[in-house]
Amino acid sequence: MTEPAAHHDEWVRRPAAAEQGTNCTAAQYAEMYARSMADSDGFWLEQAQRLDWSRQPTKAGDWRFDPVSIEWFVDGALNICHNAVDRHVAAGNGDRIALIFEPDDPAGEVRRITYADLQAEVIRMANTLKKMGVAKGDRVTIYMPMVPEGAFAMLACARIGAVHSVIFGGFSPEAIAGRVEDCASDWIVCADEGLRGGKTIPLKDNVDAALAKASVKAVLVVRHTGGDVAMTEGRDHWYHDLSQGVPGECPCEPMNAEDPLFILYTSGSTGKPKGVLHTTGGYAVWVETTFRYTFDYRPGEVFWCTADIGWVTGHSYVVYGPLQNGATALMFEGVPNHPDHDRFWATVAKHKVNIFYTAPTAIRALMREGAEPVNRHDLSSLRLLGSVGEPINPEAWRWYSETVGKGALPVVDTWWQTETGGVMITTLPGAHDMKPGSAGRPFFGISPQLVDGDGTVIADERTGGAASGNLVIDRSWPGQSRTVYGDHDRFVQTYFSTYPGKYFTGDGCRRDADGYYWITGRVDDVINVSGHRMGTAEVESALVLHDKVAEAAVVGFPHDIKGQGIYCYVTLNAGEEPGEELAAELRNQVRREIGPIASPDHLHFTPALPKTRSGKIMRRILRKIAENETGALGDTSTLAEPGVVDTLIEGRLNR
Ligand code: PRX
Repeated sequence: MTEPAAHHDEWVRRPAAAEQGTNCTAAQYAEMYARSMADSDGFWLEQAQRLDWSRQPTKAGDWRFDPVSIEWFVDGALNICHNAVDRHVAAGNGDRIALIFEPDDPAGEVRRITYADLQAEVIRMANTLKKMGVAKGDRVTIYMPMVPEGAFAMLACARIGAVHSVIFGGFSPEAIAGRVEDCASDWIVCADEGLRGGKTIPLKDNVDAALAKASVKAVLVVRHTGGDVAMTEGRDHWYHDLSQGVPGECPCEPMNAEDPLFILYTSGSTGKPKGVLHTTGGYAVWVETTFRYTFDYRPGEVFWCTADIGWVTGHSYVVYGPLQNGATALMFEGVPNHPDHDRFWATVAKHKVNIFYTAPTAIRALMREGAEPVNRHDLSSLRLLGSVGEPINPEAWRWYSETVGKGALPVVDTWWQTETGGVMITTLPGAHDMKPGSAGRPFFGISPQLVDGDGTVIADERTGGAASGNLVIDRSWPGQSRTVYGDHDRFVQTYFSTYPGKYFTGDGCRRDADGYYWITGRVDDVINVSGHRMGTAEVESALVLHDKVAEAAVVGFPHDIKGQGIYCYVTLNAGEEPGEELAAELRNQVRREIGPIASPDHLHFTPALPKTRSGKIMRRILRKIAENETGALGDTSTLAEPGVVDTLIEGRLNR
């Protein structure tokens, strides 16, 4: 690891308005952060007091990273659905809007669901799940579009103590089958079809195809588009039928703080996706607290996170974070460019959105359309902008801040991961000035460190100072994932073996002299395509399933809109010829195995891959060639056949 070069970071002063009425000033941040480090137990027990517990916790963190064992609030009991729904109704806020649904078609019906409505809907769903046979501890797979019923299903599971596993609607039947089997899920909740940008997504058909490979006891189907779908007698139930006559009451199951809440599959550098497990108490406190402070949420405000509930961002900041805070959350079914490139801005104006939270890939795509679509709309309701999912380049940050925020709004660039449950590094709107491209400062309780290849700490909050290295976290926080479902060894191996005693994030990072963290991207074989995490090994496995393919190596390359694109090197079996037709077959193969989100951007057929004498593929070289950085290949002397590199460069795709 090298010392960072001198950077001329531009400071952007936090707007004076962001300091008025803030829940956290600079002085409060300093005081609260220091306390969260010095008296973690006291700090987190105090934060936990904003929630209702059926049994109060007396202890906060009980954890060690070597050997790995993580528990929070372990003697406490609560139900996150009660905290997200019922307690607001009980407090007399049943008339407040919990969810606003904006459909794919802007002329379609907007739904405004109050907390009282939400309670009734969640009870109906919970009792329907029970009627189907779902019991506490069972895993329920949810494969839904971005419609309120998706949130009802998650909350209904939480209410009865079932563990939800939400699968993003862009995943294929193969991917569903793998996830259903991995967590032995006997139940699926899906919709007939989804709608995105005017196109239908055959959700139920995909489930049927998945169930040719995996089996479940029952499928609950929510009617959404009204499209024609096949129903298997005895297995499939229409929600509107099965929910007829269910009781209007359903108590919230008291859950131990460490009872599982959900599983969410995410890609890693090796093997199949991992079922990241989050438990109840710590996650509840973490997302309630991070939502409250990161967005400086003020009662009555409309919060819009554009993420799908199939990703962790949707779990934490469409559903559990906002609702536990009694906020109004907007759920948007569609896409940013349908029917036109002004859809986000039209929607902000239509629903008077105050806080808008989206991904850099969307910002970059919309930036390309210029200011005109933004300026068509009155965006004066906006008070705060947020970014999540991948590094945001300063140019996109500035466009977001200036064109969307008119230079008057705080922008929070929130760094976190599926495994962290919620925001870990961010500026706080009323406390910190901003630097475009930097996520900012650690959240309360977060102790980031930069380590070199040997694990030596080269910069952290204690020593201060500027350095670049690998980002680790050296103590637990309430929202930390507890394990990989069914494979604790893999959890330990993936996150705690590289630097024993520390959680390894897989990200590279720079800390500057002002204590601001700059995430530089993954340092493992994970790529980030439009904010979607993808293991290169998964794409390779999909490619080699084709009987003409001998070997495949997949790397990321910089992509203007997606952040990273997928570049696949493929060698064919003897006698096979590359061609457009085969390329199309391979693209389809990947879409079938993983889903459309993993479609290769480039397929590069090559007679050979660069390997060391021991047969290891030299990915560093493949990355450089994919990046068109062929002048900087570095040391190639360890290659078994150096000539391979010239062939690869010659065959490099013109981009
Ligand atoms: O590389 C980091 C990047 O996304 C990874 C986590 O992906 P996932 O688990 O899918 O969660 C995404 C949403 C929280 C991280 O390891 N990442 C996420 N947010 C940022 C980011 N990189 C830079 N800046 C961010 N704000």
